[in-house]
Amino acid sequence: MEIINTVKDFESYRNSFIFNNKSIGFIPTMGALHKGHISLVKRSVDENDITIVSVFVNKRQFNDQSDYINYPVTTERDIELLEAENCDILFIPSDEDIYNNYEGHKMDFMGLDKIYEGEFRPGHFQGVVDIVYRLFEIIRPDRAYFGEKDFQQLAIIKLMTKQSGLNIDIVPCPIVRENSGLAMSSRNERLSDDLRIKAAKIYQILKKYSSALTINDSPGDIIKSIANEINKEDYLETEYIIFCDPETLRPIEKFEKNMNIRLCLAVWCKKVRLIDNISLHF
Ligand code: PAJ
Repeated sequence: MEIINTVKDFESYRNSFIFNNKSIGFIPTMGALHKGHISLVKRSVDENDITIVSVFVNKRQFNDQSDYINYPVTTERDIELLEAENCDILFIPSDEDIYNNYEGHKMDFMGLDKIYEGEFRPGHFQGVVDIVYRLFEIIRPDRAYFGEKDFQQLAIIKLMTKQSGLNIDIVPCPIVRENSGLAMSSRNERLSDDLRIKAAKIYQILKKYSSALTINDSPGDIIKSIANEINKEDYLETEYIIFCDPETLRPIEKFEKNMNIRLCLAVWCKKVRLIDNISLHF
């Protein structure tokens, strides 16, 4: 695996014969890699001639500075994991290199940056779009892989790609979970063993309600019941729960036949903020 640390080095590599007529799969990450990230890498290795992973802890997308400062950095382990998957290139640029003379990328979020995650993390999605657009410009991939774990991020990246006319196929990948059902996340490392067990309750409750759901249920009432059940657990506090359309992310006020639905939520587990979602269909 080639490790590249500067935009300039990447660009000369990108322009070399190695890339001629090769399909390129790209997975942007913030490192501290786990099986969720690796599932994206495996998919890209299967579907492309060259797989490129970036590791960049993007300051601009952290609305909470202590979250940024405490974000885990595990570079040696990330390299080992990526080498084991036959990743071709690991791109680890510096802050100055990425943001030098780059103000960011303007797009029409169509309101998606202000709801759900956006309501509680002001500026977060602008930060995500800034870095992903910049990386797309540098890497110029054919396909880019994103996890459904960050469902709203995925929807916004699809919108940004479409609006800016970039010829990149955005490939959604399913959520990878721990045996307990807890969605894998770099932030899970901050949970004690005891809190991990509690955090696993979130998915158990989501599964319980989604499998019992009927078309005549009121989305608002179910949201209240789920919130009550989660908040009953010590150390768990719901921030939002929403039934929404998986494409537009608009909230669903009434269930209808043949509807595809995503149930998305954010929950604080003591000081760690966790997100999860589940797909439903009537
Ligand atoms: P990060 O949290 O490192 O995630 C990188 C990618 O891995 C994202 O597409 C995310 O959805 C996916 N991922 C994380 N956990 C997953 C899981 N349990 N199952 C499946 N996929 C999972 O998301 C970001 O970084 C950043 O916002 C980024 C896009 C890199 C921009 O900075």
